[in-house]
Amino acid sequence: MNKLENKVAVITGGNSGIGFGIAEAFKNEGAKGAITGRNQATLDYSTKALGGGFTGIRGDVTNTSDLENIFKTTAEQFGKIDVLVVNAGGVVDGIPMGSISDVTEEGYDRYMDLNLRSAYFTIQKSLPYLNDGASIILIGSSAAHRAAPGMAIYSAAKAAVISLAKGLSLDLLSRKIRVNTLSPGSIDTPVFGKLVPEEHLAQVKQSWIDLIPVGKQGLPSDIGKAAVFLASDDSAFIVGTEILSDGGMTNISLMK
Ligand SMILES: NC(=O)c1ccc[n+]([C@@H]2O[C@H](COP(=O)([O-])OP(=O)(O)OC[C@H]3O[C@@H](n4cnc5c(N)ncnc54)[C@H](OP(=O)(O)O)[C@@H]3O)[C@@H](O)[C@H]2O)c1
Repeated sequence: MNKLENKVAVITGGNSGIGFGIAEAFKNEGAKGAITGRNQATLDYSTKALGGGFTGIRGDVTNTSDLENIFKTTAEQFGKIDVLVVNAGGVVDGIPMGSISDVTEEGYDRYMDLNLRSAYFTIQKSLPYLNDGASIILIGSSAAHRAAPGMAIYSAAKAAVISLAKGLSLDLLSRKIRVNTLSPGSIDTPVFGKLVPEEHLAQVKQSWIDLIPVGKQGLPSDIGKAAVFLASDDSAFIVGTEILSDGGMTNISLMK
């Protein structure tokens, strides 16, 4: 308990799914700080659900002025930041993922913008507001390691995110800032509702469960626990690497 007592955290995309699960886990360990997102209604709802200690800051992570505002506002309210979770990402509004014959140049750019470029500039814009010794957690994906239908660009962006943790750990070594990637497998969040119509939701989730050795999808709280570890001093010797939290899906085959 209280592994993050008085630590100041920013969790992008903390108003939904995995980001909210991480914010809850951080709050339960004594952290305070900010969650971000574009949707004011879910920001308000999630901030209230966290029950004090966290504020909601509206911003689009693909917009660098918004990023600067997020970190400036957090630092003014709470002081310098100890933990940054670069979580916002996933599905681009109104643009379906797809196979190579279907993807447009705009679709390619928007997916890379949300899932790779924004991660890089989220970190860059945070730097003046981070404490030396801070922990940065990039949310990657098991999709970086295992192809899934229609997800090639998303997977490539997440593979690049895993690489960023290495390069940026080196860039930030003199400040003792650790950068690691936490890669979820299939986690039960609202993202599935953005990808498939309601009537196919149960079937799609089941087809993921069929691939997961532990026999169930993960929960945002599962990722929250792993994020607490990477945020805390318990992981002080873990630098520039990746932790997979996927119920064994990437490394274990269920083939009979
Ligand atoms: N669920 C999974 O199975 C899974 C597996 C592997 C990795 N991941 C990764 O985990 C992260 C969270 O996904 P999730 O499953 O929790 O999905 P989610 O419930 O759809 O949450 C996505 C979050 O990102 C925010 N976001 C999206 N676009 C944004 C933008 N342009 N600017 C600012 N915020 C933006 C959303 O907030 P607003 O809409 O309010 O902006 C929301 O908070 C993503 O990086 C995703 O790639 C998910």
